[in-house]
Amino acid sequence: MNIDKDIKKASTPSSSFYTSKKIFNKTKSVFENSYQYICHESELLENTNIPFYLLENWLDIPLVVTKEKNNIYCLSNVCTHRGNIICNKKNNQKKLVCNYHGRSFNLDGSINHAPGFKETKNFPSKNDSLNKNINLLNWNGLLFVNCGENKLILKGLNEIKSIINWYPFENLSFDKKASKTYKINANWALYCENYLEGFHIGYVHKGLSSDIENQSYETTLLEHGVLQMAKSKHKNDSIGGEGIINGIPSNQIYALYFWLFPNIMLNVYKWGISVNIIEPISKEKTRIKFISLPLNGLKQTHGKNNSIDQIEAEDQKIVLSVQKGIKSKFYNKGRYSATYEKGTHHFHRIISSYL
Ligand code: FES
Ligand SMILES: [Fe+2]
Repeated sequence: MNIDKDIKKASTPSSSFYTSKKIFNKTKSVFENSYQYICHESELLENTNIPFYLLENWLDIPLVVTKEKNNIYCLSNVCTHRGNIICNKKNNQKKLVCNYHGRSFNLDGSINHAPGFKETKNFPSKNDSLNKNINLLNWNGLLFVNCGENKLILKGLNEIKSIINWYPFENLSFDKKASKTYKINANWALYCENYLEGFHIGYVHKGLSSDIENQSYETTLLEHGVLQMAKSKHKNDSIGGEGIINGIPSNQIYALYFWLFPNIMLNVYKWGISVNIIEPISKEKTRIKFISLPLNGLKQTHGKNNSIDQIEAEDQKIVLSVQKGIKSKFYNKGRYSATYEKGTHHFHRIISSYL
């Protein structure tokens, strides 16, 4: 895939980018090597073990996050004996115990006890402990893992941090009730590129456009990410704080929409942060996780016209419509609006550099 560097000359990816199984499989390594959001620190009390599958139903890498005293680990959740999955649900036990033949592990992954192995030679070796060479990153309380090598995304996170270093991250905590998961029958990239332009707001989100100043919508390209922001129409409807972003005081900004390559969105609002994770399942199936991290004492707002739910429904509807359209034999590719689609172009440039 080749996307011209100059947005004024470039064309969007051809539809095979969204429809070809071969290209979809190629993106596997992009995701394996990326940082994926796992959970918020506030979900981990002492001796908490949270099992999960990294990119469930696709990469399906079984992992478990553990917390022992003040240390947080991310371990392979596969027993080193014959490969059973060890931890099946969130628990508060001090050991991870395999229910197949009773082998147990400490919360740092080291092997604790292995019944029946007295006569086995050179046992245990370090291979009998759980693999903990999984990069775990605690970014202001948001935990990310990387099962591969690519550390480039760290640059994006560092850039984001420097833009909002005044933000009270320490006051965020996970709100399970306000969090939700959707599945849609569309390619993950269609969902991301829709997020990456505010061009459609006036057409698709009529409610939202009454809250933000459309003229002020601004897109900034980051190293492995994009920042979009808009000024608030109403004074008391801003993210507050004492930052200045692109010359605008943060108390005039309605929201900051950060996207992190390839599939993570961090939306900074007045009430807290919403993390959107766009997880490919197949080339036409995507899971969208909305994680709500409100600031102490606040709740995710559900306004009249601009509730997140409504905006989400509007976005999903349009993305599904595009999914149908790109399969038509009469569509192959389009051109970019050089004024409004810088973010989308940036995304296509980055992904094409990996494919
Ligand atoms: S597979 Fe875990 S103890 Fe045998
Ligand atoms: Fe939208």
